[in-house]
Amino acid sequence: MSDRLPDAPHLLVTGGAGFIGSELVRQVLARRDGTRITVLDKLTYAGNRANLAEVEADPEQAARFDFVHGDIADPDVVGLLIPNVDAVVNVAAETHVDRSILDPEAFLRTGVIGVHTLLEAARRASADGRPVRFLQVSTDEVYGDIERGRSRETDALAPRSPYAAAKAASEHLVHAYHVTFGLDTVITRGSNTYGPHQYPEKLIPLFTTNALAGEPLPMYGDGMQVRDWLHVRDHAAGIDFVLRHGEPGEAYNVAGGNELPNRDVIARLLEAAGRDWTLVRTVPDRPGHDRRYAMDGSKLAALGWRPRVAFDEGLAATVAWYRDHPDWVASARSGDWDAYYARQYGARLAAGQAVAMAEPPGEGAG
Ligand code: NAD
Ligand code: DAU
Repeated sequence: MSDRLPDAPHLLVTGGAGFIGSELVRQVLARRDGTRITVLDKLTYAGNRANLAEVEADPEQAARFDFVHGDIADPDVVGLLIPNVDAVVNVAAETHVDRSILDPEAFLRTGVIGVHTLLEAARRASADGRPVRFLQVSTDEVYGDIERGRSRETDALAPRSPYAAAKAASEHLVHAYHVTFGLDTVITRGSNTYGPHQYPEKLIPLFTTNALAGEPLPMYGDGMQVRDWLHVRDHAAGIDFVLRHGEPGEAYNVAGGNELPNRDVIARLLEAAGRDWTLVRTVPDRPGHDRRYAMDGSKLAALGWRPRVAFDEGLAATVAWYRDHPDWVASARSGDWDAYYARQYGARLAAGQAVAMAEPPGEGAG
């Protein structure tokens, strides 16, 4: 199959100090095929240079790696970096739906102004004779809630949270730069991702770290919302595959093939953590909470890519990773963590204690 990147390419990976970005950097550099990577990362609360320690400790990989601390919405830094690369992989974003409900502005700044800044620099470099391939990492949330069936790449985008709306806006800009200026673009739409190094604010890392610490697990609403779980190793591999083999102008679903109600995920996670259901609290729901995401992965499968990690194995290894990395967890739960947790969960947990304790799958509402 043809590779759309030159030999020994130089990639700009934005957001490379985050969860999925750092896995992508580790995977690509470990292949030792001469690929160079420059990471551009703002180091928000979710970015952590320790996620790249493995790369920086390996002299051969470190020689093909640079880290730049900066913002994708800064035209000066972006304009210096992009003319030197063969491809931009835009992983950077504000990524937590609950924070987009508390404070949407940063989501729009990075998702709209930041993506536009990257696209402009890529367009200029390409027009000046240095073609730049542009991969935008997107999400199944752009399709919105889907009651039955599975979202396909040709479906209309119908985002419903500020996070998803910002991601859809990014996608529209990327597509517009392909159609209008002929920029070589591809888009990946990944499903809910889990694994090591994920900042502990989302369902699996939050409930894992809380369970290991014996703290309550705040389950929104009836817990029967469905998500399709994708291991971070598979998500990064899917992005890398589309970068090399995706058709210009196309979008690709990167589906996990593990559609599960939250209650089921929580029960499996508790088992892996050696805890029981008494830690779970039903708490007032997330506003506008999407009930179900499900994607059809056949377009990428037809090109030859499928996820590999079995959910129960991936989950058990993830729980073990958090158990084995208390310093990483303590550092993530420092700074503004307590203020965020109080704002997001204080009133919810107080209200949650007034309702009945959640029950295991099969016995509860749903
Ligand atoms: P994350 O929150 O762990 O990391 C985001 C990274 O981007 C951090 O390192 C942060 O410092 C950096 N960043 C944020 N704003 C920036 C800016 N303006 N300039 C430069 N760097 C900036 O995110 P993640 O979970 O790894 O998600 C990565 C991408 O994958 C995002 O685009 C997200 O929308 C998408 N995605 C995530 C999931 C998931 O379940 N986590 C699923 C599908 C798609
Ligand atoms: O679907 C892909 C998306 O998955 C990504 O694009 C986003 O970046 C990522 O944050 C994730 O979004 P979700 O909102 O689906 O993930 P989250 O882990 O926040 O929630 C998963 C489910 O668990 C959802 O139904 C809400 C529920 N939940 C979550 C939290 C944090 C709870 O019940 N309690 C919680 O405390």
